[in-house]
Amino acid sequence: MLEYIKEHPTLNEGMIGMRMETLPRIKLANLPTPLEEMPNLSKQLGGPNIFIKRDDVTGLGFGGNKTRKLEYLMADARKQNADTIITSAGFHSNWCTQTACAAKRLGMDVVLVKQGPREGYDPEEYDGNHLLHFLLGSEIKVVPSRSKADELMNELAADLRLRGRRPYIISFAGSTPLGVAGYINAVLEILTQCFQRGIKIDYVVHATGSGGTQAGLILGAKAFNTGMKVLGISVSRSENRFEAITRLVTASAKFFEFDLPLGKEDVHVFDEYVGEGYGVISKEVVETINRVAKAEGVFLDPVYSGKAMAGLLDLIGKNYFDTEDNVLFLHTGGTAALFPYKQPIKDFMKKGESSWVKPPWSTA
Ligand SMILES: Cc1ncc(COP(=O)(O)O)c(C=O)c1O
Repeated sequence: MLEYIKEHPTLNEGMIGMRMETLPRIKLANLPTPLEEMPNLSKQLGGPNIFIKRDDVTGLGFGGNKTRKLEYLMADARKQNADTIITSAGFHSNWCTQTACAAKRLGMDVVLVKQGPREGYDPEEYDGNHLLHFLLGSEIKVVPSRSKADELMNELAADLRLRGRRPYIISFAGSTPLGVAGYINAVLEILTQCFQRGIKIDYVVHATGSGGTQAGLILGAKAFNTGMKVLGISVSRSENRFEAITRLVTASAKFFEFDLPLGKEDVHVFDEYVGEGYGVISKEVVETINRVAKAEGVFLDPVYSGKAMAGLLDLIGKNYFDTEDNVLFLHTGGTAALFPYKQPIKDFMKKGESSWVKPPWSTA
């Protein structure tokens, strides 16, 4: 990577000698992921030119953005001689799937402390990511809140230590400066693909949750002088997402010893496409998933990428972009979540309304 930076004088000097070069990393993803055009969708919309970065096919499990973070986080876990990974997220979490896959590939055990409607929730039907967590042989615990999940993760780790095991806890869906490294590198990958194609990307649009993906993209975009604006589409309600992402950007810049002019104006978060909440499906999202599948043969999901694409289409409709702009949609994965939503997807497509939109597995 350093060679590449030295060959391209437009890249930021501050990157040379950066700490990222020395970070331990384990190869988990099939990189580079494809960067493709979306010609049919772009034509339907009459511009801008839409491209898609296929991080849904990173190759670990069913793929997704978390693989890039895990290359650094799992390397750290291995450096610390961990034998068990403990992590936490929502009941149908993509993060949990990819973490469990990574742990298994590296011969580690995995404990998933998932958030669900009640303690010990165990549905009759196993589907989507929950089915995958089960197939991966993860030890699964379900608690009703994030604070309970944090508490339990610490208790389980203490218990494992007493039994001579070496647990490693990963919190915040890997959105720590170490995890952020994955998307700083992804920018370099995007840039290389753009050089090869002779294009310049003006905007990157993607689903944002815990913010690690966006923080990495923002830092990478700045560090490599890309001129790319990063637009995060929120998928859940949070009063302080903008501040949280800004903090993560600043903390990561410090961690990697980047000397970059970063400010609030570099962080763009759109909160208006969340709908009724995290994981709550809507007619617009189903129509978007259906539209993209029909136009391009690409599957999005109802929780993350479908919402982000619905946001992008709305912004296009409001002339946020120039028709000549090149807009890259980062497909962050999550397609396993299509299946637990099969009923509302069918309902919306056939009847225009659904008997349920808030999933039965979400927290109360
Ligand atoms: C499919 C998918 N897209 C986007 C995101 C959001 O990524 P981040 O948490 O880094 O903001 C997630 C997080 O779980 C995800 O699973």
